[in-house]
Amino acid sequence: MAESPQRLVVVGASGGIGQALTRALLDEFPTAEICATHHRSAIPFQHERVAWRQLDVVDPGAIETWAADFDRVDWIVNCAGFLHGASGGPEKNIRSLDAEFLLENIRINTLPTLLLARHFSAALKKSPAPVLATISARVGSIEDNRLGGWYSYRISKAALNMALKTLSIEWRHSHPRGCVAALHPGTNDTALSKPFQANVPPGGLFDPSYTATSFVSLLSQLDPSQSGQFWAWDGSQLPW
Ligand SMILES: NC(=O)c1ccc[n+]([C@@H]2O[C@H](COP(=O)([O-])OP(=O)(O)OC[C@H]3O[C@@H](n4cnc5c(N)ncnc54)[C@H](OP(=O)(O)O)[C@@H]3O)[C@@H](O)[C@H]2O)c1
Repeated sequence: MAESPQRLVVVGASGGIGQALTRALLDEFPTAEICATHHRSAIPFQHERVAWRQLDVVDPGAIETWAADFDRVDWIVNCAGFLHGASGGPEKNIRSLDAEFLLENIRINTLPTLLLARHFSAALKKSPAPVLATISARVGSIEDNRLGGWYSYRISKAALNMALKTLSIEWRHSHPRGCVAALHPGTNDTALSKPFQANVPPGGLFDPSYTATSFVSLLSQLDPSQSGQFWAWDGSQLPW
């Protein structure tokens, strides 16, 4: 049987899904050590196997410096993300497009995964079964885009998906035991979705602990032949 992951990194572990994922990983892998990051939020909980680090994912130098602390890493799961904030929220139409808001979406939702891949590449290579997964969103699927709107968020997640797919192709050669995954969590009851929950159908709003457990199970079962796919929480595959 494959060795379970022992050294895990969760980026954005102060968020609704990230925090639930960190707890689910602690439960599933009882000897694993987790390095978890927060940014503006306080550290949400303390645990003897979790080392917290404050990290701004839009700071490339901070990611590079932090990565240098690691020798081997088995899994990195990036749960940091942005949909709305002081600078604005998702656009209903093209008239609402704001250049700075679009770039903020890309800075938080797209670029950090590439920087994590770049700077943690050597540490992941030392793992017998490295995983790099980032929470994307179904609205980043070009094929699945039926409703329009939400330009900046959709664009940043579509670009993230392309980044992950491209990385998976490169890592077939450089990290042949590895798996790269884009994840869709469904609609979860978190601060990020709060303003947009009104039209969610009954039963369609998940507790993040449900999604987190589903992701841990999904990621545990992936093998390198499945690298470079876009997965929903329930294990179904989404179109790019
Ligand atoms: N909730 C949903 O329904 C839903 C649906 C589809 C996709 N997603 C995706 O799932 C992921 C997690 O979302 P969530 O619902 O858990 O949101 P959330 O509760 O708002 O958490 C967002 C996380 O991102 C972190 N973050 C934001 N900007 C950052 C920065 N500059 N540097 C470092 N960390 C930063 C936050 O850190 P601090 O709080 O410490 O600042 C927090 O940990 C996101 O990528 C989101 O797009 C969510």
